[in-house]
Amino acid sequence: MSDVLRKGIILAGGAGTRLYPLTKALSKQLMPIYDKPMIYYPLTTLMNCGIRDILIICNPHHLNDFKDLLGNGMQWGIEIQYKSQPSPDGIAEAFLLGKDFLEDKNVALILGDNLFYGNNFENNLKTVNQEKKGATLFAYPVSDPSRYGIVNFDKDTNKVIDIVEKPPNPKSNYAVTGLYFYDNNVIDYAETLTPSTRNELEITDINKIYLSENNLKVQILGTGMAWLDTGTFDSLQEAGAFIRTLERRQGLKIGSPEETAWRNKFINDDDLMALASEISKSSYGSYLINLINSKFKKKDELI
Ligand code: DAU
Repeated sequence: MSDVLRKGIILAGGAGTRLYPLTKALSKQLMPIYDKPMIYYPLTTLMNCGIRDILIICNPHHLNDFKDLLGNGMQWGIEIQYKSQPSPDGIAEAFLLGKDFLEDKNVALILGDNLFYGNNFENNLKTVNQEKKGATLFAYPVSDPSRYGIVNFDKDTNKVIDIVEKPPNPKSNYAVTGLYFYDNNVIDYAETLTPSTRNELEITDINKIYLSENNLKVQILGTGMAWLDTGTFDSLQEAGAFIRTLERRQGLKIGSPEETAWRNKFINDDDLMALASEISKSSYGSYLINLINSKFKKKDELI
């Protein structure tokens, strides 16, 4: 897949200490969000952008668990590679660890614990994915802005004037979400960073460089969008409940790599049927089988 404009990175490391003892033996990003492992959600977000070359960066202790779950991606018509991050030295380290993988391509970075769901978001992502230059971030209103990177806007022009990491006195409540699109300059920028006071290479420092170069776009995600947090016991449970409610109400699944691969034509009906048959005892498998059958039913109805 060498003719691609952009590759994807999922950052799925970190110590997970805020969720101990849940995360003592298990990676946070492999824990269930209702009927799927957490990483399925950011993975399908990247797939929905049209991205098929993906690097997963994780803690060395969990590398084999991720490989067991996701393999090389061939089953979903994508290519997955892996890299370990020896210690959680910052989100921006992803570009240093991913330098050889990225080569001269642009990148979409997504945090492995970020869940996005929304009307028309997929089409939006496909458009952003085509951008050749600069950076695009997504901002989302939150009730606890001191926990995030926060975007400050000029009151008159609505232009971004600053981005501040975890401000004690936030000037806005628009948090930078964990999905970032950059051109290939991000690797050079990451190489110039020095660790912050919390000893991390900060993604906010990367964003500030793009802002100072006048090369930063910030899209505000509106009320029709959900950006879900999974950082605490309660938010983890709530994210699962949110997915369960939507899936049961609509009879559709959110964050299924099999379905996403099939809908994006990375795999065909036979491939999907083969994947579904392997797990037909699970309601997840029967859902996939029904997808194919209902497609044929629709075709018949049209005839
Ligand atoms: O969630 C969005 C926020 O993510 C942004 O608004 C902030 O600007 C950004 O700094 C970051 O906030 P946190 O610093 O609170 O992120 P946290 O340390 O929770 O890490 C986010 C995820 O990234 C988490 O699942 C672990 C993973 N991670 C983090 C670091 C620092 C890694 O895999 N490696 C790392 O070195």
